[in-house]
Amino acid sequence: MSMKRLESRTALVTGGSRGIGAAIVRRLWSEGAKVHFTYRAAEDQAREVIASCGGAVSASALDVTDAVACEAVVDEATEKLGGLDIVVNNAGIIRDGLFLSMEDTDWAEVIETNLGGVFRICRAACRQMLMQGGGSIVNVSSIVGELGGVGQANYAASKGALNALTRSLAAELGPKGVRVNAVAPGMVRTDMTGAVRAVAAEKILERIPLGRFAEPEEIASAVAFLASDDAKYLTGQVVTVDGGLSLLGRR
Ligand code: NAI
Repeated sequence: MSMKRLESRTALVTGGSRGIGAAIVRRLWSEGAKVHFTYRAAEDQAREVIASCGGAVSASALDVTDAVACEAVVDEATEKLGGLDIVVNNAGIIRDGLFLSMEDTDWAEVIETNLGGVFRICRAACRQMLMQGGGSIVNVSSIVGELGGVGQANYAASKGALNALTRSLAAELGPKGVRVNAVAPGMVRTDMTGAVRAVAAEKILERIPLGRFAEPEEIASAVAFLASDDAKYLTGQVVTVDGGLSLLGRR
């Protein structure tokens, strides 16, 4: 009988109530992990995700821009799960707009959520992981962090900095047994991309060698790999999962 890859591992996932985060929760659970996830406000959606895992995962509300709440959620998850082996920083937002008219709040909210949120969760989680003797962190970035994006100065800056944070933590925490990696998706079918106009989507499709957007599950499988011992010699890496979109560069 084969053991599941993540059997008895404990995992915290932020933004797990829908989209990529929900797929990550289901994937980690199906590989045997004990999972606690966070949602911002959509308690009904969170309940659906819990139900889809046979009631075997738990959830709590969290705004990752709230430092005190981040500490509390990490403590809560650690206590509930009996440890913290895996943290997936998935929560993220877009506030797209042309640079010249970008509002201070659109800048600040994106940086505070996509970058500050990861900083806060990681700092709290790392203390626990160091006490345990190790762990694995996976950050959900974006190819835009490397390529940049028109109308996405705030988002691209947040994800580019997230890649740098990932490498820095990997270098600093590697000696303590904590691996830190990121997944950089291209275009994924979720609420976030649902807002992309049909014409724009058609243009993007033409540039994807594999000819389609990713399903959230296809990002989740890369996250599960990085979180698992199959990736135990991988750290500080940003793994692109984009159907080849970035091969053709920024246009
Ligand atoms: P989504 O909008 O469907 O879900 C985002 C999740 O983050 C939700 O669960 C939401 O509640 C949570 N969240 C947002 N702000 C939060 C806050 N302040 N505190 C706590 N939670 C918060 O988005 P999607 O598409 O599932 O994106 C997930 C991650 O994947 C994000 O980091 C996004 O930047 C990244 N990504 C998505 C791509 C796509 O094509 N959909 C492409 C590349 C990266």
